[in-house]
Amino acid sequence: MSERLEDIAAAMMRDGQGILAADESSGTIKKRFDTIGLTSTEDARRDYRELLFRSTEAMTDYISGVILYDETIRQKAADGTPLVDLLKATGSVPGIKVDMGAKPMALAPGEKVTEGLDGLRERLNEYYGLGARFAKWRAVIDISATTPTYNALKANAHALARYAALCQEAGIVPIVEPEVIMDGPDADHTIDRCYDVTEWALKTVFEELYVANVSLEGMILKPNMVIAGQKCPTQASAEEVAEKTVKCLKACVPSAVPGIAFLSGGQSDEDATKHLSLMNAMGGLPWKLTFSYGRALQAAAIKAWGGKPENVAAAQRAFTHRARMNSLAALGTWSADEERKAA
Ligand code: 13P
Repeated sequence: MSERLEDIAAAMMRDGQGILAADESSGTIKKRFDTIGLTSTEDARRDYRELLFRSTEAMTDYISGVILYDETIRQKAADGTPLVDLLKATGSVPGIKVDMGAKPMALAPGEKVTEGLDGLRERLNEYYGLGARFAKWRAVIDISATTPTYNALKANAHALARYAALCQEAGIVPIVEPEVIMDGPDADHTIDRCYDVTEWALKTVFEELYVANVSLEGMILKPNMVIAGQKCPTQASAEEVAEKTVKCLKACVPSAVPGIAFLSGGQSDEDATKHLSLMNAMGGLPWKLTFSYGRALQAAAIKAWGGKPENVAAAQRAFTHRARMNSLAALGTWSADEERKAA
């Protein structure tokens, strides 16, 4: 008998914990390793992920779930233990990225649609057997003068809903991720334009989820924050980001959704933490609000590691620090003082 989706989602949304996105595709992890001059081999990717998953304090106290990549969910640690078993031993729920990437959309210049639905039922069943209890699918929505269009928003929302329905059928909690990106080719949009596009994207996604019979109680939303594009000359204050993000989410996300876990999207480590903390400090939110960061949880650790075995402990300390800061943010109690302490 499989666990109830609601119980899995509740375990992923435990107080003061959040999700580690360690599901970089082979192309993306190569880019991350390039920054430290490391060749991306299967063993290097394994060593790096093993380092994270063996960070006992971070994994036990601050991380409730980990999103894995297809290669990683099948990998074994250097001593032969499956990486999934390392995760389970820390109490973290294993998850899996199942989309096959955002591809240029036909007859829609500058827009992308995420692929991966063909054969997804069979892949989900296999991943369930490998231990996955949640999944992730990311849609990419880029802002420019002419995009997004309803055509692309609707196609992406429809794919997210078909993915989410297949997940729930397989006993897997879907993380539904429509990412309005802040660091795309233009990236000069204002925070208010981001608000409007995020609102439009979320309304479209929840309409499609409803039509597809997806149970909102058994899913998690992974949205962007409402924030100006990276190249916009006017950057909003942290308070404005927090306030506009919460306003937008309250307007679009039904309270039946148990949790919202943000992506970091290119924000600095500290901004991603501060914004989340400010939102939780507001109180009175109808859902749990936490993190599902990739870059903002890992950047410092990758840098400290540098691909060298003698730096593993330093990398684990860096990762644990970021995880603890984000745990405080999930409780709304992060402060700059905490950040400097033991940094
Ligand atoms: P970032 O936090 O680096 O944006 O990654 C999160 C993620 O999983 C994107 O799909």
